[in-house]
Amino acid sequence: MKICCIGAGHVGGPTMAMIALKCPDVRVTVVDINKERIAGWNSNQLPVYEPGLSEVVKQCRGRNLFFSTDVDEAIQASDMIFVSVNTPTKTYGIGAGRAADLRYWEQCARRIAAVSNGNKIVVEKSTLPVRTAESLRAVLKANGRGCRFEILSNPEFLAEGTAIQDLENPDRVLIGNDDTNSGRAASKKLVEIYARWVPHEKILTSNIWSSELSKLVANAFLAQRVSSINSISALCEATGADVDEVAAAIGRDSRVGPKFLKASVGFGGSCFQKDISNLIYLCEHYGLHEVAEYWSQVIKINDWQKSRFTRRMVETMFNTVAGKRIAILGFAFKKDTNDTRESPAIYVCRDLLNEQAQLSIYDPRVTEVAIRHDLEAATALPGASFQKRITVEKDAYAAVESAHAVAILTEWDEFRNLDYNRIRQVMLKPGFIFDGRNILSPEASPMLCPGVYGIGKPNASART
Ligand code: NAD
Ligand code: UDX
Repeated sequence: MKICCIGAGHVGGPTMAMIALKCPDVRVTVVDINKERIAGWNSNQLPVYEPGLSEVVKQCRGRNLFFSTDVDEAIQASDMIFVSVNTPTKTYGIGAGRAADLRYWEQCARRIAAVSNGNKIVVEKSTLPVRTAESLRAVLKANGRGCRFEILSNPEFLAEGTAIQDLENPDRVLIGNDDTNSGRAASKKLVEIYARWVPHEKILTSNIWSSELSKLVANAFLAQRVSSINSISALCEATGADVDEVAAAIGRDSRVGPKFLKASVGFGGSCFQKDISNLIYLCEHYGLHEVAEYWSQVIKINDWQKSRFTRRMVETMFNTVAGKRIAILGFAFKKDTNDTRESPAIYVCRDLLNEQAQLSIYDPRVTEVAIRHDLEAATALPGASFQKRITVEKDAYAAVESAHAVAILTEWDEFRNLDYNRIRQVMLKPGFIFDGRNILSPEASPMLCPGVYGIGKPNASART
């Protein structure tokens, strides 16, 4: 069996590396039009940081895992083609800001149809609006030069930072197929690949529309939990309750469960906002305005939580941060990834820059180029003037030197273990620490007490 994957990104790379690891007899080729990305996958500096990923790639690369820019050759050589290209939110035209931009997907479909010289199974790995398979079928059929294409939906549920763990031991694998003999036969072939390492009871098969929709709904439900607990964090701050204690109490109910109840500065990442926006757009398309409005609130609360965080910082620091040095610890949207897409840090930094703060930023994995690029894109400020108000530091201690305040925006483990007594000493007084991830435990370290502001935590004076 030969398979290929179009799109060597955060999903295509790790997913195919895992298939190659578990199926040494299957030849897996990952292709992309981005030459730099492919060069990265063929080097020791992989373009995606994920714990455990480089070990898997090293084991398989050159054996049965290949990275290439030759898309046509990979399509021709493969029996099964995964498509894992980006499906961002449209920024133009009809549905701008909500609908998925399917242009990369359609380009791939047209390429597959144009160069295929035999029958293929095409697997939707990207997250797509419901009924995309229908459009895909139309494009393939109209351009397919007599080849037969079977379409499967196989959405990916991995989370960044734990991709290898999630791929190795998924909660479930979902495969949607057409309710035809050839659809079922194609599905069986894909089931056989996953069954090499995933127990059969975890491999769910469904109709193709259910599979497409389940991916959007899964992300909407997860994001909804974060927005729900974040909405309660505001009430906790107002009333003196502690959001972590509330989360622990409700999470003990087996019907609720303990996961995804960590209050934070807001959710980020390339998926949640994009997929909920897409769900909202679909609901509106089908005239389900109340349903669309219901899910819109998840995004509204998230936007509010991010701006609420900055507002609290400014108000606490005597209503002005102009000219003040603020240390930003963490820029990635969560720990253990170098991905900054939709990171709450971007929005907090943007709002602080608009308040004329000076920022000293440190993240263990995000490059200076990426940080400056993200902030340039997010602010409407002229490049040179605001870039001078940012420094990107090599470690956390350099970032906090002479700072008026520290904002912890990513829950990197190393931030839990910093010497906060030392940090207090090198900060200006009174120093403020805004813990956007609730990773500090003031109770365990009395030095932290005054001036530490967590999310949904009684403030220091109420605590003592
Ligand atoms: P990404 O931006 O990291 O990677 C996509 C890649 O596709 C890019 O390298 C791009 O160059 C390539 N590409 C675009 N058009 C191409 C074309 N015509 N031919 C060849 N290559 C092309 O995106 P990602 O994060 O890997 O996400 C891919 C899909 O998976 C999206 O639909 C996303 O919603 C979904 N998804 C992402 C995650 C995640 O955690 N990032 C998880 C589950 C699902
Ligand atoms: C998500 C889904 O979890 C995954 O199944 C899907 O395939 C892709 O989208 P990802 O965005 O990579 O994965 O990370 P996730 O762990 O879901 O976190 C998303 C955001 O929510 C992060 O910013 C994270 O910090 C935040 N979050 C998560 C919270 O603020 N609190 C929580 O309790 C959990």
